[in-house]
Amino acid sequence: MGSLLGVAESDLAQMPKLLKKLAFCFSPLSGPDELERGKQAAAELLTRFEALLLEPKGLLSSLERELKGECHAVLVANAVGLLWQAFEATAGLLASSLLRLSQDPQLRTALEADPAQMPDFLLEVLRTESPIQNTRRYVARAGVLAGQTVQAGDAILVLLAAANQDPRANPEPERFRLDRTGRQIFTFGGEPHTCPGQVLALSIAGAGLLECLRSRIDFLEVPQDLTYHTSVNARLPVWPTCLN
Ligand code: HEM
Repeated sequence: MGSLLGVAESDLAQMPKLLKKLAFCFSPLSGPDELERGKQAAAELLTRFEALLLEPKGLLSSLERELKGECHAVLVANAVGLLWQAFEATAGLLASSLLRLSQDPQLRTALEADPAQMPDFLLEVLRTESPIQNTRRYVARAGVLAGQTVQAGDAILVLLAAANQDPRANPEPERFRLDRTGRQIFTFGGEPHTCPGQVLALSIAGAGLLECLRSRIDFLEVPQDLTYHTSVNARLPVWPTCLN
């Protein structure tokens, strides 16, 4: 995603560290330290993305040219926002996928033998582990919704992870099945704010996992006692090396 926006190869490794600080400061559970670290990361990201606009390559520069310099600050902030949106949940998908593969050698063998099954594998991980567990909606007009009286302005917490487990949407929801037919995934939310990054997330995570399988990483080294980052909406394993 960074490359697509125009971040130089040499700067890519810095991005996850900054994005992680930013992501953690947005959490309502964050304290003064996280807020401060997040503020510093946001300032650095904005400076770096401003600098990107001086380079005539990448998506960000193309957009700037198209907008003829208008909405400059909005463009830069949105580019940072886009990278941040792409980061946390995709990292969760990758980490949960690796954990699942480390627990199931048969699944690993099946994917090694037939990498074309990778999308089905990732969709089952997204369905069962849901890197984003919920999203919010606000009521526009008073009325009755699913049998409940609601008032304008009410907040509704939509439990995407629970919807994935509804047997009316996915029969025998507790079973992890590559050959599941008619699979329904609510992990990316729904109209009108549905996640625009689904295809990208699947291809980033798919490419990463295929590389892990090809390079024969030692799955026995994946710790089985992983904990999860404290969060009100993300299911993000605390990964010893790359995510910490
Ligand atoms: C496994 C990976 C991902 C998951 C589980 C995920 C999940 C979500 C969810 C649940 C929402 C809120 C949807 C709603 O409220 O209806 C969302 C919004 C969004 N996502 Fe993702 N996302 C992922 C990856 C990405 C990537 C790679 C990008 C970057 C291209 C991205 C960009 C966005 C943006 C820009 C929004 C805001 C959309 C809006 O408010 O209109 N996401 N995502």
